[in-house]
Amino acid sequence: MHTGDRTEPAISAHGLSRCFGDHWAVQGLDLVVEPGELIALLGPNGAGKTTTVRLLNGVLAANGGKASVLGLDPGADGDELRRRTGVLTENAGLDDRLTARENLAFTATVRGFSTNQANHRIDELLDRFGMGDLADEQTVGFSTGQRKRIALVRALLHDPELLFLDEPTSGLDPAGSRDVVALIEQLVHDHGRTVVLCTHFLGEAGRLADRMAFLDHGVLRAFGRPAQLADELWSTLELSIDLGRPATAEELAAIRVVEGVSATNATDDGARAEVRDRDRAPAIVRSLVTTGVDVYGVVAHPPTLEDVYFALEAHIAADPEFRLIHQPTPRVPT
Ligand SMILES: Nc1ncnc2c1ncn2[C@@H]1O[C@H](COP(=O)(O)OP(=O)(O)O)[C@@H](O)[C@H]1O
Ligand SMILES: [Mg+2]
Repeated sequence: MHTGDRTEPAISAHGLSRCFGDHWAVQGLDLVVEPGELIALLGPNGAGKTTTVRLLNGVLAANGGKASVLGLDPGADGDELRRRTGVLTENAGLDDRLTARENLAFTATVRGFSTNQANHRIDELLDRFGMGDLADEQTVGFSTGQRKRIALVRALLHDPELLFLDEPTSGLDPAGSRDVVALIEQLVHDHGRTVVLCTHFLGEAGRLADRMAFLDHGVLRAFGRPAQLADELWSTLELSIDLGRPATAEELAAIRVVEGVSATNATDDGARAEVRDRDRAPAIVRSLVTTGVDVYGVVAHPPTLEDVYFALEAHIAADPEFRLIHQPTPRVPT
């Protein structure tokens, strides 16, 4: 949303909190999401992901803090907000006495579509999602993957600016989840929508997200671009060094003398070295070449998201106050 030369965040939450009884499901959440961004809300079951989505979409009232979503206050303008957002909830919630088209037409009617508009839009989306053939079948026989796709179509009927996807691939087999992830990728890249994706699958988040938010017991512990978080949470990098055969003890020693190398071991085609940063590679090659060895190649392996996730858990275990947040401080919505 552009107001003059300034871009309003799609979401700005400040101290957003919600408790159930004396249990804080979400506590003091500060979150700024830019328009067109896909952010992943990561965290184990019970971390507060679904509660966050419900707060931001105005389905659940906050007990503390403020939020501005598409310029609206979800607590006060929930109806208006939900006309501009779409949600894929954890359970598809289809009426299995109806066909796919009838399920979708029901929502379209609630959204104020005429019958013609509804049919046109439903056909268009079902075709795009490769489900045209199933339009007039009862959903009772649908697989979990097909249900998710119908639910995704339903969330997209009114072409929302902001999409909340809560565990879109849970319960899907690998093929089903690959299809859904590809659809989400397409939605974001082709249409520039803002997406909040809740997931506990790191691979999915890594493939889709511009930035990731890690929730733990209702508290935001880390937020940033994956590479940025990896840089700060993970202090070493692995290099694999191709010698065309396993490295000898002397060759490993020639690698280890290089400053910034913390560990080495031989592999089938050379060696692996744990190093402080990528810049150690040329020095390692030089050191090996002076011992008369041919080096066929060096490849750096940055930490995986899983490495980052477990490093984050270790930091939290060591320091209960640990935070690693890369975002502007939200303006307090008025
Ligand atoms: N309607 C509710 N009533 C009581 N407790 C709830 C309710 N919704 C969520 N909670 C609790 O809040 C915490 C966060 O839940 P949730 O947001 O669903 O986490 P996630 O989606 O990350 O798995 C959990 O401890 C859950 O039991
Ligand atoms: Mg959830």
